[in-house]
Amino acid sequence: MAESTRMTLRNIHIRETSAIDLNAILAVERTAFIDDEEVVTLTRDLLTDPTAEPLVSLLAFDGETPVGHILFTKAQIVGVDRCPLMHILAPLAVIPDYQKQGIGGKLIRAGLEKLRVLGSERCFVIGHMDYYPRYGFIPDAAAQSFPAPYPIPEKDKDAWMVQDLVEKATEIKGQIICADVMMKPEYWKE
Ligand SMILES: CC(C)(COP(=O)(O)OP(=O)(O)OC[C@H]1O[C@@H](n2cnc3c(N)ncnc32)[C@H](O)[C@@H]1OP(=O)(O)O)[C@@H](O)C(=O)NCCC(=O)NCCS
Repeated sequence: MAESTRMTLRNIHIRETSAIDLNAILAVERTAFIDDEEVVTLTRDLLTDPTAEPLVSLLAFDGETPVGHILFTKAQIVGVDRCPLMHILAPLAVIPDYQKQGIGGKLIRAGLEKLRVLGSERCFVIGHMDYYPRYGFIPDAAAQSFPAPYPIPEKDKDAWMVQDLVEKATEIKGQIICADVMMKPEYWKE
């Protein structure tokens, strides 16, 4: 079926989540990441980590069916008191039957807009270099003086990306740290 035809069949809407959505969120993550329990655990823990706040968590629905989820949690610069608000995007998940229909892109755009409303100045992501630049992320954030929480191998340096969300984002630079539960080396190994 042609992409444009499939799009018209879907009635996708996106909304912010609350505590009652936890099971739906984890089911989407588990299905999209094909039973990768590390991602499921990370998502669940981030949603209750006070150091992740303020966070933005969005679910995409086809009618009543949850089909995608995106989470943005707080990032900071090491050693900077009263750091301007910044976020990191992780994870992003769309269940397989709904992939390649623009839902991931819709979630990213909607999330970045929510971050702007919150007053967030920058967003970081570690992920696929063919995907996130479509939504404004610039590869190799370390080259822009924002080293990742853990060292990224040289061959993967472009996967650590950043974008400014406001016209004049703070000029303060430095090592990025994220919510406590994400500050584990295993989440940064590749
Ligand atoms: C990655 C993911 C969220 C994309 O969601 P989606 O709704 O399919 O994305 P969109 O429809 O907006 O965009 C699809 C495009 O992204 C590309 N894309 C998807 N996954 C990709 C990947 N891992 N690397 C590079 N490109 C990718 C597709 O090839 C497609 O490209 P095309 O438009 O040229 O055909 C979804 O595939 C997913 O949940 N994957 C499993 C979990 C995962 O890997 N999450 C991302 C962690 S960084």
